[in-house]
Amino acid sequence: MASADKPRVQRIAINTGGGDAPGLNAVIRAATLAALRNGWEVLGIRRGYMGLLEEQVDDEPGVFPLTEHAVRGITHLGGTILGTTTRGNPFGLEVRQPDGTWGTVDRSDEIVERFRALGIDALIAIGGDGSLGIAHALQQKGLPVIGVPKTIDNDLAATDMTFGFQTAVEVATDAIGRLHSTAEAHQRVMVVELMGRHTGWIALESGLAGGADVILIPEIPYHVERIAAKVRDRDTSGRRFSIIVAAEGACPADGEASYADASGRYGGIAERLARQLEELTGKEARVLVLGHIQRGGTPIAYDRSLALRFGAAAVRCIAEGSLGTMVALQGKHVRSVPLGDAVRELKRVSPATDDAVLTGRQLGVSFGDADG
Ligand code: F6P
Repeated sequence: MASADKPRVQRIAINTGGGDAPGLNAVIRAATLAALRNGWEVLGIRRGYMGLLEEQVDDEPGVFPLTEHAVRGITHLGGTILGTTTRGNPFGLEVRQPDGTWGTVDRSDEIVERFRALGIDALIAIGGDGSLGIAHALQQKGLPVIGVPKTIDNDLAATDMTFGFQTAVEVATDAIGRLHSTAEAHQRVMVVELMGRHTGWIALESGLAGGADVILIPEIPYHVERIAAKVRDRDTSGRRFSIIVAAEGACPADGEASYADASGRYGGIAERLARQLEELTGKEARVLVLGHIQRGGTPIAYDRSLALRFGAAAVRCIAEGSLGTMVALQGKHVRSVPLGDAVRELKRVSPATDDAVLTGRQLGVSFGDADG
């Protein structure tokens, strides 16, 4: 619940959780500088919430002061100076049992206690759906939290845009673009696997911008025969190569998505499709799995600027006493929305109405379904 009380703030903390995204450091810099200018102290918590549980790892303290010096010159840097983890949920931390098997333990109460012991008045939690869900649960235990939406997947419902997404789209578009000449030279099918577990925003935007012939996303179940038909049609019309872009979580209409391992991690759709298409079309197929290159390196200007705006807006929320909220881009404006609303559902592509899907269909792009 957002609160209208204006707390007297002396010290805030910042953490980054889940998979990294280009722009994290820009948020950290903006929030730190804005908070210092308010006369507040700022603490950085390392590796999500782990820094609150592990006081020192090697020579690094789990919690350390974020000063002007600490955030100097980091706006353009990828990664996060605070470190991050996808295995740091304090409500279910993995632990090795005495018999060697793995179990989980809830250490969320310790987080709240340590937070209070450090005299932290508010936490700026920078994360995606998983990390913001944890932040929301901690907020319900009494921790004053402001969320900042981060994910290259752009799948958070309450914000038009997460930072990191546009950089990922840029990287993917460049890769798809580069494949055209080699695909054409060899008259091959190239299958590109992109990130996107539950939503296909990266594949959709970069596939369209990069000139893909087929775009497969989790929101539109595909039929491999339809993809093969598209490849054959192109051959018949003299275009003897095809570029297929698939989000890692895309799923055949009559089967299961492709999993990398038993943990539920996606992976392998490109390899699977390439073999199926070789079989169905008799053409040679090659695979590119773009992987973490989509998350690494310097954020493009759009993401830097959005990240700086989000960081500064989070500090305004704290100053105004608007806690338990997440900053969000709505149209041209950064506003705050209740954190509970922000983590309630994912933002998915609506196949019937999404403008990029409609545009793709009008241009003859196949989505592997009956419509194209
Ligand atoms: O949520 C962001 C994301 O990039 C997903 O698109 C992808 O499935 C996942 O992270 C990969 O995570 P990890 O770094 O754990 O392999």
